[in-house]
Amino acid sequence: MRLSVFGLGYVGCVSAACFAKEGHEVVGVDVNPTKVEIINDGRSPIVEPGMDELIAEVVAAGRLRATTAAKEAIESSDVSLVCVGTPSAPNGSLNLTYVKRVCEEIGAAIEGKSRPHTVVIRSTMLPGTIEGVVVPTLEIYSGKKVGRDIGICINPEFLREGSSLADFYSPPFTLIGADDEETARMVGRLYARIEAPLFVTSIKSAEMVKYACNCFHALKVSFANEIGNICKALGIDSHEVMEIFCRDTKLNLSPYYLKPGFAFGGSCLPKDLRAITYKAKELDVEVPVLSSIMQKPLVLRRWNSPYSPHGPM
Ligand SMILES: NC(=O)c1ccc[n+]([C@@H]2O[C@H](COP(=O)([O-])OP(=O)(O)OC[C@H]3O[C@@H](n4cnc5c(N)ncnc54)[C@H](O)[C@@H]3O)[C@@H](O)[C@H]2O)c1
Repeated sequence: MRLSVFGLGYVGCVSAACFAKEGHEVVGVDVNPTKVEIINDGRSPIVEPGMDELIAEVVAAGRLRATTAAKEAIESSDVSLVCVGTPSAPNGSLNLTYVKRVCEEIGAAIEGKSRPHTVVIRSTMLPGTIEGVVVPTLEIYSGKKVGRDIGICINPEFLREGSSLADFYSPPFTLIGADDEETARMVGRLYARIEAPLFVTSIKSAEMVKYACNCFHALKVSFANEIGNICKALGIDSHEVMEIFCRDTKLNLSPYYLKPGFAFGGSCLPKDLRAITYKAKELDVEVPVLSSIMQKPLVLRRWNSPYSPHGPM
């Protein structure tokens, strides 16, 4: 396929280089001329194991080049991957400045195209952003209709900095959120050689899955640190505790207890949570995550709950 990749940061560089390696014809676009120059020199603008060699190889093979000219990139491609940043605003809200700007540029460039064009969002964006921001911006600036002249989908990225090339070829799954089958099928073809389950869902569900994943990862780190701090205060080897904890793939690291619905209850979970958080208080160990689980309004709801859908506890 002929691809344009907008935003040559971590996600954009890895996507551009890996898709070029897979045999696609890729043009990278960035507003930063230094990044563009570095790529055209066959070097990597990001520090990542294996990236310098990969970019050198695909640039030398003529399958990857970079430009600052959005219009030219859209004209020479059929599918655009949007990988611009979506940073936090000071109040925590999502800053969509770069997403809006890039959609304006892509929309304006699509206006003059006679062929259909597909826009694949790889940036992380809150549920509803495609419907509320991306689609209207593309339609206003192109004068065309999404779903008829323009295909749109979200294809979140799950790479980790430091192992992003390995993660690209071995993701937990490939996720495509699209509201039309043709776009989903076309984007799915990009991943034909990646050995990972492919999930196709609605745009809003895919937007949400990315947040569910990242929130859970953050929760895991914080949980492990709180258990670790309690262990430390009690002179217990926290690594051994968590290693044994992780060996339980039936209840601990499993789909069990991960269905939204009722609150938890039963005779053990509330009692044991209260005991360990009280112990932490005695030890002067801060456990904000564990403490927040037993906050009063939730506790009342849980105690009123006659049974738990999550099974015996
Ligand atoms: N970094 C990660 O590990 C990672 C992993 C998964 C998802 N994500 C998500 O992917 C998105 C990109 O993340 P990143 O870390 O690659 O960002 P980044 O800040 O490293 O790179 C973004 C790039 O976009 C460029 N850009 C901004 N406006 C542009 C425009 N109008 N046209 C062309 N280029 C433009 C910037 O110059 C910059 O080079 C974010 O939404 C992020 O949350 C990041």
